[in-house]
Amino acid sequence: MKFSSVLSTVALLFISKSLAITWEEADAKAREWCADLTNEEKISIITGRENMTGVCVGSIDPIERKGFKGLCLQDGPAGVRFGKGTATSWQASINSAATFDRTLLRKVGEAQGNEFYQRGINFALAPSVGIQRAPASGRIWESYGEDPFYVGECGTEVVKGIQSQGVIATSKHFVGNDQENNRGASTSNIPEQALWEVYLAPFYRLVNDAETNAIMSSYNAVNGTYTSENKRLLTDILKDKMGFQGMVMSDWWGLYRIDSFGAGLDMNMPGGKYWGPDYVGDSFWGEHIQEYIDQGIFTQERLDDAALRVIRALFKAGQMENFPEVNLYVDTLTEENIALNRKVGADSNVLLKNDESVLPIKGVKKIAVIGKDSMPANFCEDMRCADGTLALGWGSGTTDFKYVIDPLSAITERAKKDNIEVVSSGEDNSEAGAEVAKDADLAIVFVQADSGEEYITVEGNAGDRLNLDLWHGGNELIDAVASVNKNTIVVIHAPGPVNVPFLDKVKGVVFAGMPGQESGHAIADVLFGDVNPSGHLPYTWAPREDYPTDVKYEPEYPDGGEKMTVYDYNEGLFVGYRWFDKQGIEPTFAFGYGLSYTTFEYSNLEAVMEEDGLHVTLTVTNTGDVAGAAVPMIFLSFPDIVKDYPSRLFKGFDKVMLEAGESKQVNIIVDNHDLSYYDVDAEKFVKPEEGEYTVFAGSNARDLPLKTTVLANGECNSDEEVSGNVENDEDSVDEVDAETENAEDSADEVDSEVDAENAEDSVDETALKKRAYKLY
Ligand code: BGC
Repeated sequence: MKFSSVLSTVALLFISKSLAITWEEADAKAREWCADLTNEEKISIITGRENMTGVCVGSIDPIERKGFKGLCLQDGPAGVRFGKGTATSWQASINSAATFDRTLLRKVGEAQGNEFYQRGINFALAPSVGIQRAPASGRIWESYGEDPFYVGECGTEVVKGIQSQGVIATSKHFVGNDQENNRGASTSNIPEQALWEVYLAPFYRLVNDAETNAIMSSYNAVNGTYTSENKRLLTDILKDKMGFQGMVMSDWWGLYRIDSFGAGLDMNMPGGKYWGPDYVGDSFWGEHIQEYIDQGIFTQERLDDAALRVIRALFKAGQMENFPEVNLYVDTLTEENIALNRKVGADSNVLLKNDESVLPIKGVKKIAVIGKDSMPANFCEDMRCADGTLALGWGSGTTDFKYVIDPLSAITERAKKDNIEVVSSGEDNSEAGAEVAKDADLAIVFVQADSGEEYITVEGNAGDRLNLDLWHGGNELIDAVASVNKNTIVVIHAPGPVNVPFLDKVKGVVFAGMPGQESGHAIADVLFGDVNPSGHLPYTWAPREDYPTDVKYEPEYPDGGEKMTVYDYNEGLFVGYRWFDKQGIEPTFAFGYGLSYTTFEYSNLEAVMEEDGLHVTLTVTNTGDVAGAAVPMIFLSFPDIVKDYPSRLFKGFDKVMLEAGESKQVNIIVDNHDLSYYDVDAEKFVKPEEGEYTVFAGSNARDLPLKTTVLANGECNSDEEVSGNVENDEDSVDEVDAETENAEDSADEVDSEVDAENAEDSVDETALKKRAYKLY
């Protein structure tokens, strides 16, 4: 890049940032700007025209008279789509989630936002904040897992990051698109309390905390009415109750009737009635909106409001002046982006098993690397093939890769440093794999399973996975290798849980998810111990039949029709770990599970109810020999007056880097909204004023050695001191005792470090404190 263009980019960034204004200011400017628009112009602002035949997946025509340059909308969660290798191919969102690191999530949002900005893309079609309620669901890798609180936290950081660059984040898919099969001909029948507390919950955060400027409706119906024409969801709940000031667009051809406009949808994307060039200019909306206004079916106010919402979002984002021209092929594959993708890839590796500390690799002379998943990838359009290492799933949420670092090359390069010989078999061939493994000191088998979006079928999987098995004979390959090499390690690339019949036969398992273009480097970093793994599962891992729910594979029905696959959300609030707790089922790996090359202990849990929420503190200590990052997690039990409620809910976390032997105090605030439940009769969130909350702390949903209680009304428990009221969990008396001692030993260190660390770690906490919630 030339110096002059660097300068102009910096200048543009500065301008875009300096124009970030409040909704009130944006509203005033937008009203003034819209005042002289004709109805024809308003309709053109809200109806896509190119119908995906242009360079952007969605576009709005310019209005020259007004100096309005038109709009470009582009996917998606893993970075800029259709960049022909000029943009970073980021990790899947589920990998970002596995880091449990707010700072990294924000950085990813910023870096992605900047790549969209430099291309003159007004709307990034990201993030996706769906809930992983069924592990076979095709697009689980595009979102952040099973827990509504956590999905909201991740989405908030990413939206703030994207929007900090002057690009509009489009939070999607509103709401209940939790499987691919018949997504445009299915109804997600969601009980009212679960609708609010599970599926709307992330959107509530994105509207209130992140001020997302745009939201995309989903393909499916909710309780019988398609979301794109669901007045209750779009107008009554999103705009009126949640107070959303931005605009709602349809998913692509995901509006099926003109009624969607009346229901509160603000933009028709990509505009045509159906897919294809034949429908350019042939829309359910367009001039028909005027006809309906003339007939008195729609009001003039609805049209004014839809156009105003689009323009208001543009003013809010600072895009009405000095926004770059559209150019999808600006080179943004910078060293910084590459390094960030590698870092997130490494930090999202979840170490699932590490018997006898087989990892990190040490004291070996010869490693065997086995499996096609360790080899360079074939880049099919929209990643519609699983051929070579799996870096991302398929569909609109993927990217055009310039390259993927394959694991074999990265491991070979890194092994040279330690004079380790690498032998390999790059096929999914059991015999060949066993042959190279038998004389090696260590065998690493790379296996995969893939999934994606419904419009592409890969190896018989129409988006949703047909089953949770490894693809291409992965289990047989592992068996063959493990039978000849006692130091076998398995690396899994997949969108989510897979069946692990080999678990007892191997010493190590790393779940690498979908790490994006720096895949090989990210796994080598962890295998060789250059990075201590700190990833954790943002979902529960179990056999398919143990989950409360599953996808259905009914035959295809016409989108938007009367005939719909019915998805009854009978599990209600009991998604993921909540279900496993309720049913007493031991998962294979619990929500939040993830090992490290060191060990951590938690102690000194305290909780105080204050006006702005529950203030929790605890101490985390690195009890091992190497530095590492811990993720202390807080779960809450609600007061007894809240009936039929999950026994524990995930409500807080932090990521803390600790040297060997080091302790730090962690401060977590659970705000008043997260202390509330949705009262269906009162039709609002209510924070209980009686009874007590129980606060649990530990490393995952099934490892919560610390607990304390706090009265809901904020008074001190009469029989307990508020501070130091750590109760031992029945099963963990010894552990807690040990932790307490340990904490005492290191009290001095804690004191000296807490201040400095608090200052460092407190950015997010301060932001949390400042959240102002309306409880409705
Ligand atoms: C997907 C959206 C995407 C849109 C545009 C749809 O198929 O569901 O997530 O943003 O296409 O590509």
